[in-house]
Amino acid sequence: MRLGKIFAILASCVFALFALSGCANVGNGKQIVRVAHSQTEKHPEHTAIVAFKKYVEERLGDKYEIQIFPNELLGGQKKVIELNQTGAIDIVIVGAPNVETVEKTFEIFSIPYLFGSKEAYFATMNDPSFTEKIYKTPEHAGFRVVTWYNAGLRSFYAKTPINTPDDMKGLKLRVQQSPASIAMVNALGGAATPMAFGEVYTAIQQGVIDGAENNELALTANKHGEVAKFYSNNMHQMIPDIVLANVRFLEALPEADRKVFMDGFKYSTEVELVEWEKQVEEAKKYAIEQQKVTFLNVDMSKFREKMLPLQDEIVKNNPSIKEYYDYIQKVNDKVEKEKKEAK
Ligand code: GCU
Repeated sequence: MRLGKIFAILASCVFALFALSGCANVGNGKQIVRVAHSQTEKHPEHTAIVAFKKYVEERLGDKYEIQIFPNELLGGQKKVIELNQTGAIDIVIVGAPNVETVEKTFEIFSIPYLFGSKEAYFATMNDPSFTEKIYKTPEHAGFRVVTWYNAGLRSFYAKTPINTPDDMKGLKLRVQQSPASIAMVNALGGAATPMAFGEVYTAIQQGVIDGAENNELALTANKHGEVAKFYSNNMHQMIPDIVLANVRFLEALPEADRKVFMDGFKYSTEVELVEWEKQVEEAKKYAIEQQKVTFLNVDMSKFREKMLPLQDEIVKNNPSIKEYYDYIQKVNDKVEKEKKEAK
């Protein structure tokens, strides 16, 4: 039986159980809080959400039990977003582009070469005046963002070397299920193939696609480095993963409990950021030494040049992101200025 089918059966069993138990209390009188994500149990996000579980249960363990479902066990990211909207899953961790079709402001993060540096990316994501506003925008759809996790830098990787955009001509490359990501690969001459993250390994292995684009952990934690041996350091995006919580679930929590949950989310981000830096270094080493992946030091400006017109196009077609885009340009300039002054 295919693994996907086993998961599907498992997921329907779990949902049957959810239905029986209802959303609130189970046998021991505790409220079950369900969290779904798509990474493995070794991934920084899993470590972070386990830290969240511990944080909340240490303080409110008599009232709540946090149950974590990793590995797309309850479905791919698009699916779990739907389940988060209905309240079947209270909390989900997804890549920001997956929210684009529900709430257009989230297209901001898919803009290629949006952040001029990692410093600018972090300054933006750590600025409450930016996050508090954008986090609330999907409330009309039933959820809001409660915190962010670093998901590194995204670059292309494939079975054949991609040194310049010309090498992408005709290549089928997997992207996240987001219109902006599709436009990005197509603008470079590739054939964008959107699909769920969990399907990528098999798709490359079986030749359905030629490669994908992601951070270095995708090579190791998700084993893509076993089937795609060339990683181009072209760094076209820094896209946060976001933790979404169902609005009704959050608002039903007594105020003091909600504060513990919110502090727990914040704490989990601190854990994730540290764990990310550690694991990404290990991943690069493992990919080179064990998986024999070649890291190509490509000329980033060639990719950037081709993608810059897309920035204006995306902003022009989506007025809801203009204010966020302008704000990030200011952060980029400020960081550059500070860097120059420090020299
Ligand atoms: C990263 C990110 C995930 C996302 C994935 C993808 O791994 O952390 O949230 O799903 O990329 O490309 O789909």
